[in-house]
Amino acid sequence: MKKILITGSNGLLGQKIIYNLLDRGNFEIIATAKGENRLKEKNGYEFVSLDITNCVAVASVFEAHKPDVVINTAAMTNVDQCESEKEACWELNVNAVKYLAQATEKHNSHLVHLSTDFVFDGENGPYSEGDEPNPLHYYAESKLASERVLQDYDIKWSIVRTIIIYGIVDDMSRSNLVLWAKNSIENKQTINVVNDQYRSPTLAEDLAEGCILIAEKEEEGVFHLSGPETHCILDLVYMVADYYDLDKSYIKPITSASLNQAAKRPPKTGFVIDKSRKILGYNPVSFMEGIKILENQIKEKSK
Ligand SMILES: NC(=O)c1ccc[n+]([C@@H]2O[C@H](COP(=O)([O-])OP(=O)(O)OC[C@H]3O[C@@H](n4cnc5c(N)ncnc54)[C@H](OP(=O)(O)O)[C@@H]3O)[C@@H](O)[C@H]2O)c1
Repeated sequence: MKKILITGSNGLLGQKIIYNLLDRGNFEIIATAKGENRLKEKNGYEFVSLDITNCVAVASVFEAHKPDVVINTAAMTNVDQCESEKEACWELNVNAVKYLAQATEKHNSHLVHLSTDFVFDGENGPYSEGDEPNPLHYYAESKLASERVLQDYDIKWSIVRTIIIYGIVDDMSRSNLVLWAKNSIENKQTINVVNDQYRSPTLAEDLAEGCILIAEKEEEGVFHLSGPETHCILDLVYMVADYYDLDKSYIKPITSASLNQAAKRPPKTGFVIDKSRKILGYNPVSFMEGIKILENQIKEKSK
């Protein structure tokens, strides 16, 4: 059986990948995360604590496990934190990818690496894999640099770009667009929502499935894996409110300019996912279907 190693297995995508792999049962799984294992399920895989910014630790975990495939989900993902903690951002989002690429080269593995729609400037979305990146902020620059790292090594590599991941994890430690909108309005908090940014939100399960299809099929190159629809963020929040029958008067439309964010967000991204559909058989759910799936998971968890 082939061995697959996941970095950042405590994260939103990391957890979904582990659970998907456990269901499939066709890989020997090594889950790695910084610190303790926070997945509820502890059986069916091996857990190894791994800080990917420690190049000695990365080399020794690869030496011990010799993975056939590695999916790197670990990253500093908070855009504003990346702007204020540039060194730490570069260390995790770029240098650590070099450590993984070096180890991948040594052990002849296949490195599947996660990137973002933010590599684009948002002037001409939705984007295909061949479109020209033009990052607008430090997080985006670091992710584009990480993509270029892979091409400097003699390895099998795949880049997975994705957009606004939504879903729930075992410890519910992280929020995302759907949970934020739902929880805020349910708690009668007014939320400011931008009316001039367009995105294709991605159900975490769909993204996990796409990453695993790449690993199974050993497909190399760049893949866009997002949800199938592109909407304005304000409309996405209205759709969440509609689904849960929430009071929309708590939603306050604003423009991006009024937010005065240090890191300027691209106005319109969104992906063309034809290549992923064709080559991988990737078939993501609509946003409304995704919200429904999430709702069932929340109900399950609260039992
Ligand atoms: N979330 C989105 O909307 C979005 C959009 C576009 C692209 N992406 C990309 O998709 C990927 C997965 O995103 P996600 O939302 O699943 O991220 P996430 O939930 O923030 O997970 C990232 C994980 O990385 C771990 N990590 C942090 N520093 C580490 C280190 N030094 N060594 C090992 N692990 C470390 C974190 O550990 P702790 O949990 O202990 O902090 C966290 O579990 C990332 O590459 C991200 O850039 C995400």
